[in-house]
Amino acid sequence: MQNFEFKNPTEILFGRGMIAKLDSRVPTAAPVLLLYGGGSIKRNGVYDQIKAALKNRQVVEFGGIEANPLYETCIEAVKAVRSNQVGFILAVGGGSVLDAAKFIAVAARYEGADPWEILRTHGQSIQAALPLGAVLTLPATGSESNGYAVISRKATTEKLAFASILAFPVFSVLDPETTYSLPRKQVRNGIVDAFMHVMEQYMTYPCAAPLQDRFAEAILETLIETGPVTLAEPENYEARAAFMWSATMALNTLIGCGVPQDWSTHMIGHELTAFYGLDHAETLAIVLPGIWKHQFDRKKAKLEQYGRRVWKVKTPEEAMARTEDFLHALGMPTRLGDYKIDAREAAEKVRTRFAERKTRLGEHGDIDPDGVAEVLRSRA
Ligand code: NZQ
Ligand code: ZN
Repeated sequence: MQNFEFKNPTEILFGRGMIAKLDSRVPTAAPVLLLYGGGSIKRNGVYDQIKAALKNRQVVEFGGIEANPLYETCIEAVKAVRSNQVGFILAVGGGSVLDAAKFIAVAARYEGADPWEILRTHGQSIQAALPLGAVLTLPATGSESNGYAVISRKATTEKLAFASILAFPVFSVLDPETTYSLPRKQVRNGIVDAFMHVMEQYMTYPCAAPLQDRFAEAILETLIETGPVTLAEPENYEARAAFMWSATMALNTLIGCGVPQDWSTHMIGHELTAFYGLDHAETLAIVLPGIWKHQFDRKKAKLEQYGRRVWKVKTPEEAMARTEDFLHALGMPTRLGDYKIDAREAAEKVRTRFAERKTRLGEHGDIDPDGVAEVLRSRA
């Protein structure tokens, strides 16, 4: 096991009716920025619950955060934070709203001249942040209990991530009932994103971390078991609750302690979203099978363990096939051609960008830009 530091400061408030607890958690001293997306919270009753819980607070509203939140919009929100002397940000929505809240919280306290530096340096220049809390309405990203955020810049078609301990929400409310209104596609995306988060921290090479492996396998098995149920029965509380908690556990940094990690599927996926506008999870389902094929020799011991323990199959090849079958059974395409995207063109665009940034991916750092292009060409 490798050395690690583990600290997760987010308080989780999980279950029916927990939005009412906001009254005891959100500070009263200064105005609160209520941040939300395109309006789903106004249609499903979440907004009304929030307003009731915050009735003794001064609330400044900022709606319109996009899926794959835009830097340009976040900068407008930073102005609203400053002009209203906001002291706390409450993000209500999916990963996009939560990520935007994290960036706004950090950018509002940033002393440098250009807030894009926060993203360009992946968070290394962060020194302070406003405190933030969240009400999560889409289980998927784990953003509710981690310090990561991913922001897109329209002007340059870039999508970059940052990480900071200062960006962890102080608390997150997870009420599975707030997710009943999700379109089927978003539930599918959420299951796949959570599944992929586990894989990025698990599918590397054995390194004497048996507890982390079994945590990871338990989350995978829970997603495989409850994913199809929660897709078919959106208002089955127990299935939705199991899925929601699995998604949080998949990326609250616990299973990644002391183990090698490989975020190549995500890194390549972000470029596919930036260039082609695919949903985050859609990109991951395309890339992962290509990474496994490309890195087969490096990953085969772990693929074999995963196949044996999770799918009860004997070979790494069967484990890979079962995984793609699972994605298809959820209704998730796994090829660029399914979106009429030319694989050669995509490969070249992403290769060029990674070459400019001198990016090398994989747990061994041995996937160079040409390797990335190979992976994408194999996903035609
Ligand atoms: O904007 P509204 O109207 O709220 O609608 C949203 C949006 O259109 C809708 N939605 C959310 N909750 C709903 C709902 N519709 C009905 N009922 C509800 N209860 O769903 C749509 C998608 O929302 P979004 O927040 O974009 O989805 P998701 O949670 O999948 O977040 C994706 C973003 O998170 C980033 C992704 O890159 C992407 O930008 N990620 C963040 C991570 C993190 N912070 O740790 C890790 C992930 O790997 C990921 O990269
Ligand atoms: Zn993800």
